[in-house]
Amino acid sequence: MHSLLSRGNAILAYTLSVLACLTFLCFLSTLFVDYRTNSTINTVKVIVKSVPDFSASRERSDLGFLIFDLQANLTHLFNWNVKQLFLYLTAEYSTPNNILSQVVIWDKIILRGENAVLDFKSMNTKYYFWDDGNGLKGNQNVTLTLSWNIIPNAGLLPSIFAIGHHSFQFPSDYVQSRV
Ligand SMILES: *[C@@H]1O[C@H](CO)[C@@H](O)[C@H](O)[C@H]1NC(C)=O
Ligand SMILES: *[C@@H]1O[C@H](CO)[C@@H](O)[C@H](O)[C@H]1NC(C)=O
Ligand SMILES: *[C@@H]1O[C@H](CO)[C@@H](O)[C@H](O)[C@H]1NC(C)=O
Repeated sequence: MHSLLSRGNAILAYTLSVLACLTFLCFLSTLFVDYRTNSTINTVKVIVKSVPDFSASRERSDLGFLIFDLQANLTHLFNWNVKQLFLYLTAEYSTPNNILSQVVIWDKIILRGENAVLDFKSMNTKYYFWDDGNGLKGNQNVTLTLSWNIIPNAGLLPSIFAIGHHSFQFPSDYVQSRV
């Protein structure tokens, strides 16, 4: 009886360590996969407004509005170790006040099994594109980049940038608004 119990224990311990080992091997097998891919980003329409900013001490801040197209084929990123992708689109620019500002303007989660061929046309941003000053009006170089975090089944995988950026300029005049 006693020996049966201890044998059961040994089998359990063995099974667990084999499982842990397999998980680790699986993790290793996807550690060096190249998760970069091509993306195409385009801006359809860009305007900037000057709006009262109640969260800042200054009276008005620049608020940018974008309409953009986004294409990327992420199908091949889904290997067995990828549970989901967290995509986000950042706008990067500099102003006289800030050497580098990065704003996340859109994001999306793609689950395994969902359509991973992105072909979005005329999308609105999901989040407000605020500058904490007047750095958007007339800005000559705002760069959009698609990035993703991979949520794996096992292990840890870094966040990746797509190959392909899109740079655009903000117009040098505000669009009047009643806000
Ligand atoms: C990205 O595009 C380039 C040229 O258009 C092509 O050579 C390359 O294979 C593509 N990469 C992927 C991951 O699709
Ligand atoms: C997306 O990529 C997969 C494999 O990388 C390929 O089989 C499929 O045809 C591609 N789809 C499109 C619409 O390009
Ligand atoms: C625009 O900014 C990006 C990085 O934010 C930089 O790589 C690129 O060279 C800049 N382009 C111009 C024309 O200044």
